[in-house]
Amino acid sequence: MIATAPLQQLHDPLFAAQEVSLWLKREDLLHPHISGNKWRKLKYNLQEAQRLQKKVLLTFGGAYSNHIAATAAAGHAFGLKTVGIIRGEEHLPLNPTLSFAVSCGMELHYVSREQYRQKQEPMFLEALLQQFNQPYLLPEGGTNNLAVQGCAEIVQDIEIAYDYICCASGTGGTIAGIIAGLSGEKQVLGFPALKGGEFLQQEVEQLVSRYCNRSFTNWQLITGYHFGGYAKVKPELLEFMQYFQQQHGVQLEPIYTGKMLFGLYDLIRQGFFPKGSRIVALHTGGLQGNAGFKERMGLVL
Ligand SMILES: Cc1ncc(COP(=O)(O)O)c(C=O)c1O
Repeated sequence: MIATAPLQQLHDPLFAAQEVSLWLKREDLLHPHISGNKWRKLKYNLQEAQRLQKKVLLTFGGAYSNHIAATAAAGHAFGLKTVGIIRGEEHLPLNPTLSFAVSCGMELHYVSREQYRQKQEPMFLEALLQQFNQPYLLPEGGTNNLAVQGCAEIVQDIEIAYDYICCASGTGGTIAGIIAGLSGEKQVLGFPALKGGEFLQQEVEQLVSRYCNRSFTNWQLITGYHFGGYAKVKPELLEFMQYFQQQHGVQLEPIYTGKMLFGLYDLIRQGFFPKGSRIVALHTGGLQGNAGFKERMGLVL
């Protein structure tokens, strides 16, 4: 575990041509298994679980979920048993994400897609509380008020002057924390990895106002870079990720960070940012998913 995620300045002829500067905040380096926004989201939840003397941490996710892998690792590190409610049927052998989770001691419990959709319904949750010995419940993606509190701390350790901060968005917890942490300063751009940006807009507004009782206007979702939806990819995305790795020596993954940086480069190319803009982009980790993605798609990442 390192205390502060370093800021890595990226150099590219494109940035020089458009007169912008870009730094990558390497949240992916925070911890080998609880990396990126995952540690930020879990930190206060783990403290709360300990305060409540919970023995079990239960959460939800798809079969390739970064959050499932990180929760399993966190439970192992903090002495909590973990249960993962996994969307869909069991496939054996387990993919790399789930076999990692099991190696950390996570108990996997598969539910149909239909049941999974009830993951926020009180009756469904009550049944899980009974079945798994009153666990501490963490929602899908780990996003709740305590996760927003943890993500609000991301901006506290950026020690350079900047104008824009960018992140990939799934459930919206990470961007909500950044917005709350900045209290109206700078501009925040979120790049949704899924279709349905309008829904996410409302979700982020709610997460922010629930956390700090305020709303802010210095943020927007850039909805044009989901590549067809969650975990959908196109050859130009994979080519970009390879270019990025060669140019900067930093690996991305195609579900979140690849799409965000593809979109960010595209905005820079289009002149979206005024000349002289200083931009920080978050590397939110998730590289554990690359092994499973490669396996599924027969790709080299
Ligand atoms: C690597 C990575 N980046 C970004 C996100 C998006 O975070 P959030 O769900 O808080 O919007 C996720 C998903 O949680 C993720 O795994």
